[in-house]
Amino acid sequence: MTTHSPRHSVQSHLAASLTAYLEDLQESGLDGIPLELMTATTAAMPPLHHTAPAGQGKESAMNDEPVVVEKHESLEQIRKSLGECQRCKLGATRKSLVFGVGNPTARLVFVGEGPGADEDTQGEPFVGDAGKMLNRIIAAMELTREEVYICNVVKCRPPQNRPPEADEVTTCSPFLLRQIQSIKPEVIVALGSSAAQALLQIKVPISKLRGKFHDFHGIPLMPTYHPSYLLRTGGNSDSFWSVWEDMTQVLQLLKLPVPNKSRNK
Ligand code: URA
Repeated sequence: MTTHSPRHSVQSHLAASLTAYLEDLQESGLDGIPLELMTATTAAMPPLHHTAPAGQGKESAMNDEPVVVEKHESLEQIRKSLGECQRCKLGATRKSLVFGVGNPTARLVFVGEGPGADEDTQGEPFVGDAGKMLNRIIAAMELTREEVYICNVVKCRPPQNRPPEADEVTTCSPFLLRQIQSIKPEVIVALGSSAAQALLQIKVPISKLRGKFHDFHGIPLMPTYHPSYLLRTGGNSDSFWSVWEDMTQVLQLLKLPVPNKSRNK
């Protein structure tokens, strides 16, 4: 009987994961590996590079450097490469894979935790009660759902709406990263502690993270309270107005007008 060392089995596991990943990319129509994605295979969250202008994406192989093809990946290609995803255990219990909705060139992206029951049924993020609260926030910013992009850390509903587990976040994150690399937003808003902690890879309570910008691969990221939390605290609570302060900073960064809202005492 052949016995393999632990190192050998780690290597074959890595090789299998890499092969599956490269097959995904091939299915999505890529004929080369964007530099960002090459980095993504070795680091959980690589820096976000901008795609080189047409004709400047290839590096010469003459100097023995690997050939790097930087190519813009569309959201459709990323959706296609997910296919009927069963990469983590959430695939077995979901009804719909909830990819994301909105403007593929949005300046602002909202990232939530994961689909709930309504989203699982309808296949669209933030369409239930939390979605109505998010719509209120977006409308208060004088923006529309069509102008921004809305997605989640995981694309399939965790059973009983539990927070996504670490392995599920790790499996799904490369696709979220590819979506963000495709959209190239100027600002990201992380809704709630799960999203903020997953994106920033940091275990700090949302109350400590919110209110200031953090860096997500060169993109300013504002963590704020989750709309479901606001449903519990109420539309005139301290937390509701904290979210408005956070969104004010987002609008200022985007150089958009800040609507004048004042709290009813
Ligand atoms: N909560 C989330 O975090 N995401 C959704 O899509 C809906 C509810």
